[in-house]
Amino acid sequence: MFTPAITGTGVFTPPERITNAELVKAFNAYVDLQNAEHAAEIEAGTREALQYSSEEFIVKASGIESRYVMDKTGILDPKVMHPLLRQRSDEEPGIMAEMAVEAAKLALAQAGKTAADVDLVICAASNMERAYPAVAIEIQSLLGIKGFAFDMNVACSSATFGIQAAADMVRAGSIRAALVVNPEICSGHLEWRDRDCHFIFGDVATATLIERKEEAKGAHFEVLSTRCATEFSNNIRNNNGYLRRSRPDGVKDRRDMQFMQNGRKVFKEVLPMVSQHIADHMAAEGVAPSDLKRLWLHQANKTMNDFIGKKVLGREPEPGEQPNILQDYANTSSAGSIIAFSKYSSDLAVGDTGLICSFGAGYSVGSVILRRQG
Ligand code: COA
Repeated sequence: MFTPAITGTGVFTPPERITNAELVKAFNAYVDLQNAEHAAEIEAGTREALQYSSEEFIVKASGIESRYVMDKTGILDPKVMHPLLRQRSDEEPGIMAEMAVEAAKLALAQAGKTAADVDLVICAASNMERAYPAVAIEIQSLLGIKGFAFDMNVACSSATFGIQAAADMVRAGSIRAALVVNPEICSGHLEWRDRDCHFIFGDVATATLIERKEEAKGAHFEVLSTRCATEFSNNIRNNNGYLRRSRPDGVKDRRDMQFMQNGRKVFKEVLPMVSQHIADHMAAEGVAPSDLKRLWLHQANKTMNDFIGKKVLGREPEPGEQPNILQDYANTSSAGSIIAFSKYSSDLAVGDTGLICSFGAGYSVGSVILRRQG
C-alpha cells in the first residue's frame, strides 16, 4: 500500500472576462429586443414580458462579480446569447483538451514531474464536448503520457470524485501517479437568456497531480481520506444528450437542453446534505473542527459557503479560513474548489489539515481531507 498525495495543481484561466455590468447591459438589450418583437402578444396578454436583470441582484444573491469565458462576443451579442467557438477539424486538439493541457502542464511543473511519471489521466467534468473518443485520451496523447485515461462526469463534484478514484489507485499500487483534469466550459450549457441563472457560470480548467507521497519532490498535501456520496434529484438538470434527435421536438431550441435549476430547493436541500457529509467525514477520521486550518469549498454561491463554513467550524470562519474565488470566476462547476485550493494553500504549515469539498447536481458531494507535508 502507498500513501497518495497531491503534489501539484494548475489553473488555466481563459483570457476573456465579463463583468456583471457588461453582462446585465447585454441581457437587458436582449430583453428590449424580445419585448419589441413580441409586443402584440404581450399587449394581448398571451405572452409575458421579459424583465431586466440587475447587477445589485446578482451580487446580493450570489456574490459573483465577474466570470472568465472562452468567447464573450457571442454571449454579449443580444442577437446570439451564447459563446461562438471556432469549428475545429478532427486533426486539431479539441478545445477542452487544449485547456486541460495548459492546466496539467502547470500542475506537473509545480510537482517537478514530467509526463513520464504519470500513468493515468482522468478528465472529470460536467460536460464532454463529444461522445468519443474520450477527451481524457486526447489529453493523454497531447501530453505524451503512457498508461491509460478515461472521462468521468459527476457534474460539480467531478474533481473530488476523480481525486478519490486516483488516490485509491495510487494507494493500491495500480498506478504511480494520475492527473485529474477539470476543463469546464460552463458558458456552453448556461442559458444566457434566462435572468434567473444567466450570471451563474464561468469557464476555466484545473488540474491536480496525485502520486505516491514517497515520490514527492517538494511541499505536498497527503491525502488522509476521501468520501463521496450521491442522492438522486431533478433540481439541477440538463436534458441534452445523444437521444435528442430521436425524440419529438428533440432538436428544437428547448429550454431544458441547457442548465436548469430550482435554486431555492437546491439551497435548502444541498446545504444540510453537505454540512452533514463534512461533519461525518471529519468525525470518522478523528478530525475536530478546531484541527481544520482551511476549507476549500465548491464555488457556487457566497451565502451557501458562509453557511457551510459556520456549520462545519461551529463559528463564523475567520477571513482566509474559507477562501472564495467565485467573485472573480463565478461558478466553474467541478473546478471551483480546486481553484480555491490551488490559489490558497501554499501558506499552510507542515502538519496543517484542510478539507476540499465539492457538491452539486446529482445531487453529489465529495470531500478530501488533506495534511500539509514538507
Ligand atoms: N435580476 C433581478 N432580479 C432577479 C434576477 C436577476 N438576474 N433573477 C431573479 N430575480 C428575481 C426573481 O424573479 C425573484 O423575484 P420574485 O421574488 O418577485 O419572484 C427574486 O429575484 C428572487 O429570486 P430567487 O430565484 O428566489 O433568488 P435567490 O435568492 O434564490 O438566488 C440563486 C438565486 C440561483 C443565486 C440561488 O438560488 C442559488 O445560488 N442557489 C443554489 C445554486 C447552486 O448551488 N446551484 C448549483 C449549481 S451547480
